Amino acid sequence: MKKAILLGVVGLCILQTSIAQPLSGDKLKARLRENLALAQSQYKLLHANIPADRMPQNYDIKTGTMKTSDVTWWCSGFFPGTLWYLFEYGKDKEIRAIAETRLRQMEPMKHYTGNHDLGFMMYCSFGNAYRITGNPAYKTTIDTAAMSLATRYRPQIQSIQSWDSSKNFRCAVIVDNMMNLELLMWAAAHGGSPRLREIAITHANTTMERHFRPDNAAFHVLDYTLGEGGRLLRKTTWQGYSDSSAWSRGQAWALYGYSSMYRLSGDRRYLDQARKLAAFILDHPRLPKDGIPYWDFDAPTIPNTLRDASAGSILASAFLEMSGQVKGREGDRYLRAAENILTTLSTDTYLAAPGTNGGFLLKHSVGALPLKGEVDVALTYADYYFVEAMMRYLAR
Ligand code: GLY
Repeated sequence: MKKAILLGVVGLCILQTSIAQPLSGDKLKARLRENLALAQSQYKLLHANIPADRMPQNYDIKTGTMKTSDVTWWCSGFFPGTLWYLFEYGKDKEIRAIAETRLRQMEPMKHYTGNHDLGFMMYCSFGNAYRITGNPAYKTTIDTAAMSLATRYRPQIQSIQSWDSSKNFRCAVIVDNMMNLELLMWAAAHGGSPRLREIAITHANTTMERHFRPDNAAFHVLDYTLGEGGRLLRKTTWQGYSDSSAWSRGQAWALYGYSSMYRLSGDRRYLDQARKLAAFILDHPRLPKDGIPYWDFDAPTIPNTLRDASAGSILASAFLEMSGQVKGREGDRYLRAAENILTTLSTDTYLAAPGTNGGFLLKHSVGALPLKGEVDVALTYADYYFVEAMMRYLAR
């Protein structure tokens, strides 16, 4: 037992001390090309490991356990989405065939209204597929999915309801929901109802008004009543350390969500929200030097707790977007932050060795530590945003 505890502590120390000198420019690009070559072989393996009617959910490298999901799981679109990015990069016919197969699995979900995650599920998958192929059938699917998501808009709280009511929440709106707005904005901008854009803008404005702490970090969950004119009951958490803590992936979703809403709307208030949050993250004394956050900025056991590679991936992609949205030293700061994360994720600490990790690319993400779910595992969205960030960097 003592030996196990010692090994655990040593493991954490290794994660904390494997800080590589950040790469940049051509050297980093060369490294990212190697990573993307690895990703293509890993994703063929991942496909082979997952039954045709399932999707990958997570992989625990310590026990060698693969968990799969059905297509209603909020992460089901990331596997096909990553495959489309990899096809866009490598033009490998086998990857394209796998991407098409995995995309077909998602198609019936265009009618799904059981949660707010249609953006993750249908835009990361079909959005990329349509952007890359121009297949009009994919656009029809995206349009239908946007209409399905819009059914969850609740005018009394000026927000999209994230989860159906349960014993835990009456009407939860989680900050992650900022990530689902691009589906609505895209559909409205490509011939869909202007109402879809109005819903996205209203949701983003409500979130900006109510979801942030005075220090600019985001709360995870706001819970409302649906009757009584939609009363805010409490600001709380589901996956974070405490109700008022700064859950790292929530910060990453908010940063990414507001920088993309600025791109999609041109409203500078969204960029300013993202900039304030970027300052919170980058100036935070508990952000490790290598750029990969602990799972919660307020976890009391820092530094003896887990990092979340998924938060790192999402942040890297968002910082790259922001580096093109602001000029001068601030833009450079975001670029350096993204380079730092990409360099760290490219080390053996985080990147899978070929043929390992069940076929996932990254190790060491944390899904929901307080719920003891998906702790220190490979996750589909860590890979998706890592691959996206690498593609963004290579396109510079
Ligand atoms: N959207 C759920 C999560 O980030 O875990």
